[in-house]
Formats: sequence, C-alpha cells, structure tokens
Amino acid sequence: MRVTIVGCGYVGEALARRWGEQAAVDLTVTTTREERRVELIPVARRVLVVRASDPSALFQALDGAEAAVFCMAPGGDRQVDADAYAATYRDSMRALQELLPDMPQLRQIVYTSSCGVYGDAAGAWVDESTPAIPRDAHAAVLLESEQLLEQCRADQRRVCVLRLGAIYGPGRDLIRRFKTLAGTTRTGDGRIYCNWIHRDDVAGAIAAAVAGGWDQTVNVVDDQPWLVADLLNQICNSADLPPVQWSGSEPGAKPMVDRRISNRHLHSLGYELLHPRLLLRSE
Ligand SMILES: NC(=O)c1ccc[n+]([C@@H]2O[C@H](COP(=O)([O-])OP(=O)(O)OC[C@H]3O[C@@H](n4cnc5c(N)ncnc54)[C@H](OP(=O)(O)O)[C@@H]3O)[C@@H](O)[C@H]2O)c1
Repeated sequence: MRVTIVGCGYVGEALARRWGEQAAVDLTVTTTREERRVELIPVARRVLVVRASDPSALFQALDGAEAAVFCMAPGGDRQVDADAYAATYRDSMRALQELLPDMPQLRQIVYTSSCGVYGDAAGAWVDESTPAIPRDAHAAVLLESEQLLEQCRADQRRVCVLRLGAIYGPGRDLIRRFKTLAGTTRTGDGRIYCNWIHRDDVAGAIAAAVAGGWDQTVNVVDDQPWLVADLLNQICNSADLPPVQWSGSEPGAKPMVDRRISNRHLHSLGYELLHPRLLLRSE
C-alpha cells in the first residue's frame, strides 16, 4: 500500500520505522526542514520537504497515496501561539480539502488530534460521545481542524481522528522532563487528572487505523489516568528527589482542565496497548 506520513517527527518516525519492519508499505514521509531530509532517508522510499498548508507541496506528497497520516505539529516541544497552530493544523486541512477532488485514490486519512479538544469535566470520565468544548484558542484550532477533516469523508474515503493523550517515550522520558519540579511549590493541590500514551502505542494505533480502515474518532490514551500530584510524587520518589509541595487551592484561580479520558472505544476496536500503564523510565 502507498502511504504518506505528513509530519515525520517524534511519532511519524516511530511509525515509519514500524512500517519499515513490515515491508508491505511503500512510504513517503515529509519534514519542513531540508536538514532533516538526510536523517529520514533510511525510514522511507521518498522524503519530501513540505509545509502541508501549501497545496502544491501537499499534492506532491500525497500523489499516488492510498492512505495519508497527518501527524504534524508546530515547534516540537516548544510552546507556540494559536496563530502558529492555525497555520499548521487548520490551514493544512484546508489545503487537503482543496486537493481531494484530484485524489480519488486516497481512501484513508488518519489525523492525530488531541484530547485537548475536550473541556473540563471536573475529574469525570469523558469518551468520544462527550461534546468537545475547547478551553482555549489552541484547542479550538484543533477542533476546527478535526471538523474540516470530517468534511473530507466520502463513500470511498474513510476519515479517522485519533485524539491523543500526552505523549511520552524514548527521548521524552517523564523523569527527565519533570525532575526539575522536585522540591518546588506548585499552585493548587495537584488533584487534577492527566492522561498519557506511550509513543509506540500512538504509532501502533495509527498503524491499526490504516490497516483496519477505521472511520471514526478514537481516543488514544493508556488505561490509567493519573492525578498530577500522584504522578509527580512517583517521579520524585523513584529518582530519589525531594517531593513537590502544593500551595493549596487559590480562590479565583482558573482551574486546569480535569478529566479522565476513556479508551474503551480503542479497546473495542481490538487494539492491544503495548504499555497499558505509564512507564516512568522510557529511555
Ligand atoms: N506531543 C504531545 O504530547 C501530543 C499530544 C496530543 C497530540 N499530539 C499530536 O501528535 C502528533 C505528533 O506529534 P509529535 O510529537 O510527533 O510532533 P513533532 O515531533 O513535533 O513532529 C511534528 C512534525 O510535523 C512537521 N511539521 C511542522 N509543521 C508542519 C507543517 N506546517 N506542515 C507539515 N509538517 C509540519 C515537523 O517538521 P520538522 O521535521 O521540520 O520538524 C515534524 O516532522 C501531532 O499531530 C500532535 O499535534 C501530540
């Protein structure tokens, strides 16, 4: 099968390596930077330098593809503003919409969105039937991008939106990321839930979506949401560091989004998580 991964970064590269081992996929991948092209040559037959918001560049990347995986993100781990989000996600989906009439061969599109589209649920469980009510401008862009992509569904074209939890894994190890918080005092009480997914399960779920022709929205998180305070405690304990302190709830402070994301639908599709529970060390 001819497949294109648009945005071959942390997740895209893991996916490309996985498909490389299986050999049944004729793969094109994209990066936005000329200097990454050489790095990606071992993982795909074609490597292109593409901004997906540019329709002619996107057309080149998708030319002949039967399946496309969109897993682009602006700025890696850096925080960027909502305009940069819009330029990456929304404008790429608009470019895709424009091109589809000339791409009848493209039968499956998979897009990695985020559980960030869900609003606050005061710690309750949310699933794919819970209305998405974005809490900020970034999440609103992600939801708008999902909606643009949903419009690309057709009789001969399946569309799958994967809403990912926070990604960790090799190179994004939790202890390394959070150990600087040891011994500090954080605002609030840390009693809000966070939801995680290992990089290899993101790649696994994307591969399953393409292989199985998934045509729906699916949450991709592991089996166990964590309270932030418990997670930071575990991290500090296992690294032998002083615990994080909490200042207690502050009147008038804007609470963070607090919800437990259900992965029941992912399980019902037959996907077996490689890492059902969080690994503190994943290097
Ligand atoms: N990180 C998380 O915790 C998290 C949580 C929820 C959802 N997600 C979603 O998961 C997906 C994968 O994330 P990741 O961590 O693999 O991201 P990443 O490592 O930052 O990789 C992003 C890739 O997208 C490329 N890119 C950036 N702007 C682009 C554009 N305008 N057009 C085409 N490609 C573009 C980047 O190009 P370069 O190669 O030039 O850098 C890179 O290859 C993203 O869709 C992200 O929104 C991530």
